Amino acid sequence: MSLDVASVRAQFPILSRQVNGQPLVYLDNAATTQKPQAVIDALVDYYTQCNSNVHRGAHFLSDEATKRYENARATVAHYINASRNEEVIWTSGTTEGINLVANGVAQRLKPGDEVMVTEMEHHADLVTWQQACKRSGATLKIVPIHDSGELNVDAFHELLSDNTAFVAMPHVSNALGTINPIKQLTAAAKAKGALVLIDGAQGVAHGAIDVQDIGCDFYAFSGHKLFGPTGIGVLWGRYEVLNDWPVWLVGGEMIATVTYQNSTWGELPNRLEAGTPNIAGVIGLAAAIEWLSQFNAADIWAHEQALLTRATELAEQTEGLKIIGTAPNKIGVLSFVIDGSHPADIGFILDKQGVAIRTGDHCAQPLMKRLNVPGTARASFTLYNTLDEVETLFKAINKARMMLA
Ligand SMILES: Cc1ncc(COP(=O)(O)O)c(C=O)c1O
Repeated sequence: MSLDVASVRAQFPILSRQVNGQPLVYLDNAATTQKPQAVIDALVDYYTQCNSNVHRGAHFLSDEATKRYENARATVAHYINASRNEEVIWTSGTTEGINLVANGVAQRLKPGDEVMVTEMEHHADLVTWQQACKRSGATLKIVPIHDSGELNVDAFHELLSDNTAFVAMPHVSNALGTINPIKQLTAAAKAKGALVLIDGAQGVAHGAIDVQDIGCDFYAFSGHKLFGPTGIGVLWGRYEVLNDWPVWLVGGEMIATVTYQNSTWGELPNRLEAGTPNIAGVIGLAAAIEWLSQFNAADIWAHEQALLTRATELAEQTEGLKIIGTAPNKIGVLSFVIDGSHPADIGFILDKQGVAIRTGDHCAQPLMKRLNVPGTARASFTLYNTLDEVETLFKAINKARMMLA
């Protein structure tokens, strides 16, 4: 059965908005996705019916909030096939998840150790490991990409060594859409004894995630790219590794006992979650996952690929337009530049026509330099986008071309 896109769209109130006097064509889904009514309702219901602090109240509302909050952890664990609910750690997003991992790992990195990242890294991953290496004396190794935006898998294998202590890589490049062969690369890194982190920010919304099948040690993602609220994310980590770590933030919730002189730490997941958490965000994220789970992942994939195929055809027919990122295995992301036009100007003219895209370096400055572009214009598609919207995008691009010529 294929996706009923009209009925999906009807569940997103924002998609019926006008922007600059035009119907909104929202193609900035890699930056953040819009929220279905089910997620908005879950947030409103939490605040109107059971707002309370979790794990600490001796009253009805706190019990109910705690149940919803911990059920949400189980929902996420199930969605990514974690082997235990305690492996799901709430964070504010992918960035915090990666920093949490660096905090745990960096204290054990030492001079002589090698940390591998890729040329297509988002700053959240690159800068975190760059700084961890500076602090620990470990060496940062960068796996090159091909000009198409595919990872150079041969170079990955060549760079792996007995000194490789840690490998971090994106499931999917936010700037190019490239899907990396993470299972195969993880297996190679694990064979060398390295710990492996997958930056799942762009991977999580486009297909089923099975962290046990991938075989990695950590998978980090953000709720807001998965139709959930901002300010909530997940770090999944293997229990034995997380449990062996120094604590991260200290304060309430994460302790077992405290005296004026000393403290002892609680069990996972609490020991890595200090302070009052983002309870509404957690409940909203679970609502997003439940909402998304009603669809068949293969139908979503087929729909997004149809949008990408049409967009690529139209891009190839557009004079002066160059697609940046032509890997054969891509999510629905079309990054491009147009001869003689700055991406920011293209974005501005598209916005005036109601078309929302992202322009700039996509938090990947070294990647833009590697590809020899100042930045790109990026349209990113998801399950509620339509082929008509792809046509509108290209009408708007052609108008921009004429105006900027
Ligand atoms: C590949 C990738 N990694 C990390 C991040 C950071 O995510 P957040 O800003 O939600 O922490 C993003 C956000 O765009 C991303 O695309």
